[in-house]
Amino acid sequence: MEFEGPRPLEASEIRAAAQLWYDGWYEAHLDIVPASLTALRTLDSFHDRLAGARAQVSVMGSVGAPVALCQVNRDELKQLFVAPEARAHGVAAKMIADAEARLDRGLVWLACSVGNDRAARFYEKHGWRNRGVVEIQVDTSEGPYDLGVWRFDKLL
Ligand SMILES: CC(C)(COP(=O)(O)OP(=O)(O)OC[C@H]1O[C@@H](n2cnc3c(N)ncnc32)[C@H](O)[C@@H]1OP(=O)(O)O)[C@@H](O)C(=O)NCCC(=O)NCCS
Repeated sequence: MEFEGPRPLEASEIRAAAQLWYDGWYEAHLDIVPASLTALRTLDSFHDRLAGARAQVSVMGSVGAPVALCQVNRDELKQLFVAPEARAHGVAAKMIADAEARLDRGLVWLACSVGNDRAARFYEKHGWRNRGVVEIQVDTSEGPYDLGVWRFDKLL
């Protein structure tokens, strides 16, 4: 399977990218994060976060039909989501290579929900080390939310 990109997220496809993020987030997190966090993860919340962070987001797929998205902010890889039909085809590998090129040089990090074993396996395969559980504050429409996550890091 061949997909365009990685390329910048266009304003016209924020809704489609939010749907991709929403679907992937629920699939991976529904069983492993508190219900109080799930309640805040509405489709509109993903749309608003993407609209506010568009310059930090890369996608793959044709314009209007993204199959993968990744957000980086300085030394943090913030989001990586690949649609089910594009998984296990090297799309995620292209996305993380692009993310690593966009991140700051030095020690970079990402948060992965505890129990998201597929994502953890993927990050380890790409040279990221699981440093164990740490408490962080994740962004929500209601402000910061305290959550225990696996912290991964990598020296670039
Ligand atoms: C995480 C994600 C980006 C990885 O992309 P991918 O295309 O699935 O990645 P790959 O297929 O290259 O690697 C996944 C690895 O996990 C393994 N795997 C698959 N299902 C698994 C499971 N349930 N438990 C543990 N490992 C699993 C795969 O076999 C593969 O390892 P291998 O190459 O040694 O066989 C993608 O699965 C995804 O978008 N998931 C949903 C959203 C998500 O969880 N994002 C990360 C948030 S931190």
